[in-house]
Amino acid sequence: MTQDEMKKAVGQAAVDMIRPRLEKDMIIGVGTGSTANCFIEALASCRDQFAGAVASSEATAERLRQVGIEVFDLNSAGSLAFYIDGADEFDGALNLIKGGGAALTREKIVAAASKEFICIVDQSKQVDVLGRFPLPIEVIPMARSYVARQLAALDGQPVYREGCITDNGNIILDVHHLEILDPKAFERFLNNIVGVVTNGLFANRPADVVLMSTPAGVEELRA
Ligand code: A5P
Repeated sequence: MTQDEMKKAVGQAAVDMIRPRLEKDMIIGVGTGSTANCFIEALASCRDQFAGAVASSEATAERLRQVGIEVFDLNSAGSLAFYIDGADEFDGALNLIKGGGAALTREKIVAAASKEFICIVDQSKQVDVLGRFPLPIEVIPMARSYVARQLAALDGQPVYREGCITDNGNIILDVHHLEILDPKAFERFLNNIVGVVTNGLFANRPADVVLMSTPAGVEELRA
């Protein structure tokens, strides 16, 4: 089974999980990335069973519209039943690193506004300790050098993501060589650096369930 086939399988598994719980007036949250795109493709088959979706990026909003799913503004949608999104890494407590696609801030907002976060991944994303994947941090452009100096003092190696401007008009620093032993505390610590908009750790709001695609099928993992 290729990685693309595993992504398609887990996208379909997420649709199978939520389909029996969809309601006509329900609005759901949809994430960003290649696995979330597989979910959107599969979700199109039940677009008449719910009202629509809040998107975590402009790219996802465009894809949702392309398959006939109405896109809502979060401010008019209220609380969302589900948030379905991929991740770059997850650990045994279902803490995540996200933001490889630079959509971390809106992803974190939509996840926070959702009752249940269903994370969809293939098995390559599973780790014992978060940090092998460089941790994305969204930063206000004028604070780039200041924030990079603060991060360098932590033993991490911040690398400016060249040419990347987020949907919010900010830049991304990817922090390499981290071993994140206390993800909750580290997430809070990073958020306190002036100039940081968001960091890609989802530990204070981890996934509720991870659907992990393997060549043998999709496994449902709970903490
Ligand atoms: C987007 O900013 C990310 O958080 C994605 O959810 C993450 O990078 C996973 O993407 P893939 O599904 O493409 O691996």
